[in-house]
Amino acid sequence: MHCKNMEEHFELNPNSVTELSESSTPSHEDDDTPVLSSQALAALKEFLSEQQSNSDAGDSEVSLLSEDWRLSQFWYDAETANTVSEEVLTLCNGVDSRVACIACPTLYAYLKKMDPNASVQLLEYDKRFEQYGSDYTFYDYNHPEELPSELKHSYKVIVVDPPYLSKECLEKVGETISFLRQPGESFLLLLTGEVQKERAAEILGLRPCGFRPHHSSKLGNEFRLFSNYDPGTRLGGWEK
Ligand SMILES: C[S@@+](CC[C@H](N)C(=O)[O-])C[C@H]1O[C@@H](n2cnc3c(N)ncnc32)[C@H](O)[C@@H]1O
Repeated sequence: MHCKNMEEHFELNPNSVTELSESSTPSHEDDDTPVLSSQALAALKEFLSEQQSNSDAGDSEVSLLSEDWRLSQFWYDAETANTVSEEVLTLCNGVDSRVACIACPTLYAYLKKMDPNASVQLLEYDKRFEQYGSDYTFYDYNHPEELPSELKHSYKVIVVDPPYLSKECLEKVGETISFLRQPGESFLLLLTGEVQKERAAEILGLRPCGFRPHHSSKLGNEFRLFSNYDPGTRLGGWEK
């Protein structure tokens, strides 16, 4: 358990989990097993009940693992995952384009549901996603280029949802994007907090779209979708 990371996340990612940061401290100093407080348990129950609603609404084919808040995991709601997946498949335009999903496992799952033949690589820190076999690559943003050489300059479409809302994290993710993107035209989508707007422009040359991403858990801060291309009328248009 990386306490420092947890503190950073709860400070830097104002995802309405202040209550959890106060109450999710493990009860035993020498025991790394997290113990859920009553608030966290209530949030978990709400999440599970929302998952059940999604399932009732016909999304049962996309099975997601439980969120691990220690890893800053907050899954998209079905509408967000469907909208972004549709955009990615539009960008692929029926051609055999390779897609990299950096730290957004929900998107991977929805993309594969929509098009099982889509070529999608998930780069993720959480090794539970090894269940996706060769489509999974372990990725730690602290080591932006420690990736298999066959991934280098291989992706036309890259979607990223960094774990932290810091400049350092965005810069390092930027190094990974440079490593992955194919020469010539490539499309980049960044989903992150509104607070990263200026940095997204400075570091990656991205602008926000009108579409607002939402999550299964109700988060306190505003999320945005940034792109390096003009989506036209899709994604709520590009903010000029
Ligand atoms: C804000 S969540 C984005 C998830 C996305 N909303 C979804 O529904 O798929 C951030 C992701 O970063 C991953 N992560 C946590 N620590 C990481 C690290 N050190 N390096 C790379 N990714 C990390 C988490 O496991 C999580 O999937």
